[in-house]
Amino acid sequence: MEQRLDSAGLTFRQDYFSDPAGWAALVSLLRDIFGIDIGPLQQLGGPDPTSMPFGWFDAEGELAANISAFALPFVLNGRNVHAAGLQSGAVRPPWRGRGLYSDVTVKALDWCERQGFEAVILYTDKPSLYEPYGFRAIALHRYEGPTPDPSSSAARARPLLPTNADDLALLQSLLKRRSPVSTSLAVTVNAAMFLINTQLDPDIRISFLEDRQAAIAWKMDEAGRFSLLDVVAAEMPSLAAILGGLEIAPASVEVLFRPDKLGWDGVPQPLESGTRLVLRGLGHATPDFPAMLSPMAEF
Ligand SMILES: CC(C)(COP(=O)(O)OP(=O)(O)OC[C@H]1O[C@@H](n2cnc3c(N)ncnc32)[C@H](O)[C@@H]1OP(=O)(O)O)[C@@H](O)C(=O)NCCC(=O)NCCS
Repeated sequence: MEQRLDSAGLTFRQDYFSDPAGWAALVSLLRDIFGIDIGPLQQLGGPDPTSMPFGWFDAEGELAANISAFALPFVLNGRNVHAAGLQSGAVRPPWRGRGLYSDVTVKALDWCERQGFEAVILYTDKPSLYEPYGFRAIALHRYEGPTPDPSSSAARARPLLPTNADDLALLQSLLKRRSPVSTSLAVTVNAAMFLINTQLDPDIRISFLEDRQAAIAWKMDEAGRFSLLDVVAAEMPSLAAILGGLEIAPASVEVLFRPDKLGWDGVPQPLESGTRLVLRGLGHATPDFPAMLSPMAEF
């Protein structure tokens, strides 16, 4: 790629999350560019320990440009893929069009290669931005299907609040021991993303099925549509057991991950959202089925 980097007055830094000022600069960048606040992550166990941020800082210590890499292992057709994720990609408006984003992207991808990651994935509404680096877009799907009869033997679930210290400790131990929600495609470890996503969307509810040792991330809209976002458990409960524990009888059901372990059949529907998953690496071993990853892993 042509070299046209204009970083006059900026300083490049890498791996700056342990510096409180560096972390604060990222929180501020994401608030200003995306309108999201990842500040609460510090009270939820902190950023993913595998994170490796790459950023250009101005003289005031503000971040002009950033992208962060982190380990995001996933399972694909029963195989564990040693993959990295990229997130928090942004450049402040006055600094755009100078090659800063290309620069941090190349640095992050070089780092991923040196670390031995066999694939890199990221969510984006601008897939074309990543084509020059060999990323290809993967269409995502939600699964729609009949409401199963709730299992009557299921014990009643209780709500979990990640901002409560005891609930957070329980969630963290479940996240540590979790199995992938699907054998065909699912993220295997994503504690930090799961926890911050519970705070970014106020409609997301987390319920604990004690007898199954499972935390359920879900939503229900006014029309009675139940959306299952994620299940954090060593062994997946069936959808009937989940609905029984939640004591709900929704009008319709959608599942926002590959549902092969739920004892339930859903029909894949293309996701309407403009966000796409893009993947680099793995040769031609891309999913040959309607793909989906839990929105609780979205970054
Ligand atoms: C997208 C963004 C990061 C680009 O930053 P930038 O510093 O202007 O990018 P660069 O100058 O390094 O340009 C990199 C390349 O991306 C291209 N590009 C820039 N904005 C683009 C867009 N919105 N869509 C597609 N391509 C784009 C540029 O033309 C350039 O291509 P070239 O190398 O062939 O000339 C910046 O506009 C931004 O922060 N936008 C809002 C947040 C966002 O969308 N982040 C990406 C989320 S995944």
